[in-house]
Amino acid sequence: CLQIRPQLNCSISQVPALVIMAGTVLLAYYFEYTDTFPVHIQGFFCYDKSFSKPYPGPDERSKIPPVLIYSLVTAIPTFTILVGELCAFFTKAEETQEKTIVTADCCYFYPLLRRIVRFLGVYAFGFFTTTIFSNAGQVVTGNQTPHFLSACRPNYTALGCQSPMQYITERRACTGNPLVVMSARKSFPCKDAALSVYSALYTVMYVTLVFRTKGTRLTKPTISLTLLCLAMLVGVVRVAEYRNHWSDVLAGFFTGGAIAVFLVTCVINNFRQLQPCTPPLLAQHPESVLGVPMVTLPCVESPLDNLNGSQVRGKAWWSHP
Ligand SMILES: *[C@@H]1O[C@H](CO)[C@@H](O)[C@H](O)[C@H]1NC(C)=O
Repeated sequence: CLQIRPQLNCSISQVPALVIMAGTVLLAYYFEYTDTFPVHIQGFFCYDKSFSKPYPGPDERSKIPPVLIYSLVTAIPTFTILVGELCAFFTKAEETQEKTIVTADCCYFYPLLRRIVRFLGVYAFGFFTTTIFSNAGQVVTGNQTPHFLSACRPNYTALGCQSPMQYITERRACTGNPLVVMSARKSFPCKDAALSVYSALYTVMYVTLVFRTKGTRLTKPTISLTLLCLAMLVGVVRVAEYRNHWSDVLAGFFTGGAIAVFLVTCVINNFRQLQPCTPPLLAQHPESVLGVPMVTLPCVESPLDNLNGSQVRGKAWWSHP
């Protein structure tokens, strides 16, 4: 392939991103599957009604089990972004066919691949960040779930509980299964709600900003509202099954939503074009291109780099030679 130089630049600039990504995944793993970060032990009031709801069983027995959430949260955005990028690429390619016909296959598909990897990569990064934020919040606050006392099963006689106003700080007050008690101490913010809203919002922003539906105008609002409804449903079910307080769910929605909005607006610039692979220096001084075969030049002006506007750079570039 003739496109060696810009690709090399790009792959070097990806190294810090890969390191950060690996660190994020590792941290998420430590929060999720190890007890490296011990949960803060909070006390409780004897017979506290807001923590005495019946134990609903492990998360796997929920109406919306974690397996279902994780599969949907992975599958829906991946599918949407793949479909959206392929559609945008091939509709755009038809318009600019004579421009790209000279380029080699790898140069032709390279922008498409770059966009897909970038959007899915940022999505994955946000996914793990949301996991870390929710887990960190749960571990630091140690707020209890509504079924905490049913899981804890404190011996009120041994603790000397006479009135409901008495506050128990004894660390070994619980007689229930330690694993269940530990997970009943992790409630704020709700991770499932955060992940579903993050995923739904990222997908909704992708759909509204990139999709160009020529048919009915209601397609995009329908997809968007369906996804947001599904995310809300996760939170509602969590509250209905006594697994979280509504404030946990609200905080989860806020966490996931804020991360999605931040990533889309500040990091991937509303799914607009990417920075060109070649340094801008090359465009300003065409004489410095002398060492590079001229065939690589159309790669810089690839059809997808100009998707969604920003024609300024393209025009300035083409006016030079
Ligand atoms: C609770 O504690 C009291 C006093 O220590 C003890 O007699 C009783 O057997 C305990 N009850 C349970 C269910 O463990």
